[in-house]
Parts: sequence; structure tokens; C-alpha cells
Amino acid sequence: MIKVTTFVENTSISPDYAHKHGLCLYIETTNHKILFDLGSNGLFLENAKKLGVNIAEIDTVIISHGHADHGGALKLFLESNNTAKVYVRRNAFDSHKIKVLGLFFSVGLDSSLKKHPQIVLTDARTVIDDELMLFSDIDNHMFPTKANKKLYAKVDGKMIVDDFTHEQNLIITEGDNKILFAGCAHSGIVNIKDKAEKIIGEKLDSVIGGFHLYNPASRKRESDELIDGIADSLNDGVTMYYTCHCTGKKVFEMMKKKLTDRIQYISVGTVLKI
Ligand SMILES: [Fe+2]
Ligand SMILES: [Fe+2]
Repeated sequence: MIKVTTFVENTSISPDYAHKHGLCLYIETTNHKILFDLGSNGLFLENAKKLGVNIAEIDTVIISHGHADHGGALKLFLESNNTAKVYVRRNAFDSHKIKVLGLFFSVGLDSSLKKHPQIVLTDARTVIDDELMLFSDIDNHMFPTKANKKLYAKVDGKMIVDDFTHEQNLIITEGDNKILFAGCAHSGIVNIKDKAEKIIGEKLDSVIGGFHLYNPASRKRESDELIDGIADSLNDGVTMYYTCHCTGKKVFEMMKKKLTDRIQYISVGTVLKI
């Protein structure tokens, strides 16, 4: 069994916990105390304290991709913990921007942290140990979203539409229990899940993360057709989904009509034992 506590998310279970656009999940496994993403600011520190977790005891941090709502708090983490290894994709510190009304706005990480001694730059596959594996080599590109087309990355000095090779996903294996964590799932949650199942050779027990189907800034969601198509593809009768962040509450309700009790929304303060 692993325990997953939400430290940062767009909503919270009660007014006792502040919430903010972004993601930070605290994961306890047999061998590790992990933070999957950190959010954009010091909220993870505040909520960790309220939820009884000492940040200095974290041994592993995974930054899912090079966007500030997931890794903007990296400097604050490194000031609070001087032992954890922080796994970040090699190109996640590149410049990342969003294009709004023809203008570019930065949404990236603090590139000055790339050479910090606690940072481990990862390639397309990284096996950390028997429990933890990272991957970003996604084969399929089904269900492309409109939102991704506004996101850019600087490659060889040029801003190009982001291919999200800076996005990595985590598989946790504890005995028969196989769990996938995705940050924003920019590469598409169906594509990421398919790849994870190819890697492990069986269906996942649980998938946790944002599905990138709603933009809180523009308050726009992806088309009903796309959302229904994704829900149908995910509905395999085996996997349980715990979603949050860039899925959005409205999209969650739409997906719940198809996935019924196989999908649950997680907010700041939610504690899962799976
Ligand atoms: Fe995000
Ligand atoms: Fe993102």
C-alpha cells in the first residue's frame, strides 16, 4: 500500500488548507518519501506542516515537466532539504512559454538551478530502483489538445511549439500494485497510460494526476468529443483514476458519467491509501 497526500492542487477539501493552481503530491512508499512536483510557491511547505510532514525527511523529488506550476518552488525546496535527489528531465530547464494574443509569457523553471548538486538530469528512461521508474518516451499522439498548441519551447535558439519531451511520468511498483503518476499529462493521458502499460506488461491499478483538459486562465475546456473519447479509452474496467489540477471540476464531472466510481477528484488535504 502507498499513501498519497495532496499538498498543492487547484482546490482543497476544507478552508483549513489554502489551494493554488499547480500540483504537489506527497507519496509514502515502503522505501521512499517522495514529492511528485512542488507547485509554484511556498504553499507546499505550509500544507506539509499542517499535514504533519517534515520536508527535510523527503528523499526523492520528481519534477514532472518544465512548467512553473509544477516546479516553480524548486529553489524553496532546495533551501529546506539538502539531501533529497531531485529528478528533472534534461531539457526541462529550457525556456518554456505560453503565447497569448501574439505575446510570449514565460511559464518555465529557474534555469540557474540546473547545475545544483541535488539535481539529477534524466533521460527518456530512468530506473531509480525496484520501486520507482521514470519515462518520457511516448509513442502515440492520440487526442491532441487545443491548449498544447499555445505552449512553446526554445530549441536551438528558436521558439517552437512544445513537443513535451521535457515531461516525465513516474511508475511506482509495490508487489502487484502498479501506479502511474502524471503531472499535467501534456503528452495525453491515454498515450502516457498506454506506454506505461507497455513498459510493465500489464494494466495499471491506478493513475494519478492532471489530464490537461481545462485551462483555468481562459476558463476554456477541450471539446466534449475529445473529453468523451479520452474517458472511453480510459474506461478499461481495471484502472482507478485519481485526478485533479488541469483536469478541472467540470471535465471531471463529464468523465465521471462514463467512469462512474472508477474516477475520484483529489484536493489539497485528500489522503489516499492505495
Ligand atoms: Fe500544470
Ligand atoms: Fe504544464
